[in-house]
Amino acid sequence: MSITSLSQPATGPRSALPVSLQGVGRTFATPTGPRTVLADVDLDLRAGEIVALIGPSGCGKSTLLRQVSRLDTPDRGAILVDGTAAGGVDHRCAVAFQEPRLLPWRTLRQNVALGLPHGTPRAAGAARVDELLDLVGLEQSAGLRPRQVSGGMAQRTSLARALARNPGVLLLDEPFGALDALTRLKMQDLLLEVHAAEPTTVLLVTHDVEEALYLADRVVLLGAPQHGAARSVRRVVTVPGARPRDRASAALAELRADLLEGLGVHTHHIPSPSADDRTVDGAVPLATRSIPDSENPS
Ligand SMILES: Nc1ncnc2c1ncn2[C@@H]1O[C@H](COP(=O)(O)OP(=O)(O)OP(=O)(O)O)[C@@H](O)[C@H]1O
Ligand SMILES: [Mg+2]
Repeated sequence: MSITSLSQPATGPRSALPVSLQGVGRTFATPTGPRTVLADVDLDLRAGEIVALIGPSGCGKSTLLRQVSRLDTPDRGAILVDGTAAGGVDHRCAVAFQEPRLLPWRTLRQNVALGLPHGTPRAAGAARVDELLDLVGLEQSAGLRPRQVSGGMAQRTSLARALARNPGVLLLDEPFGALDALTRLKMQDLLLEVHAAEPTTVLLVTHDVEEALYLADRVVLLGAPQHGAARSVRRVVTVPGARPRDRASAALAELRADLLEGLGVHTHHIPSPSADDRTVDGAVPLATRSIPDSENPS
């Protein structure tokens, strides 16, 4: 994960900000003619909400994050952060990407300090950096350089650097995509801890449906507008249950299967019976069971 801190002077920590996308569209000129990548995106994020964006490669997820941060400008529609549209790059947002982009000749502490708003007084900045290093569990490694640390530690440094900006909105583009599976799970929990300690509104792009369901309040499924639908947003799913969630819960398994079907992946998932279908001792009546082929006499 690397951070593009959208530098500007900030007066102090911001609270999480609401985001409203209204009819957002983006069409690129290509050698073969105009190509609409985003069409009619309507989406409201509550302050402090975590929303995950999923969708097939090339459907416009990164493009959408770039519109919110105003690193790119939509051709159509409006994007309001806390009720106002930014005239240029939106300094209320911080963006983190998949690949680490730490400065190799600087220590982790110095890399985090790069995220501080310009004009932060030295003592206050040092205290803030210490606080963030502590939050992401790097207080013992602050003096190391990026080549001396693991990928997960580099990601944590990047996250701390983004938070140093005190963003009202944190835009994460596949932030854990380059990590091994175990580190990824730990980073998901770290993100939830960070979100609880430093509330921001989070828009997270991921290819990992389980990650989306574990972290997000809502999951938005995007599709390419030219593939048979006029709008980019295909579905918006509210994820049940308070965080931290049980990764093995039946409800999440149902949603996972459902969303993967939406992405064109067949999961061969056998729906678990609802509570109403269960008998008193918890056994499932045969009439409601899905019978695997191996048990099917025909
Ligand atoms: N500046 C640009 N000019 C022309 N086409 C662009 C531009 N930026 C993005 N695109 C195209 O828009 C489409 C969507 O790109 P985007 O990076 O948003 O996809 P994505 O959903 O993030 O994909 P992935 O999951 O692979 O990261 C792609 O076909 C891409 O080539
Ligand atoms: Mg992308």
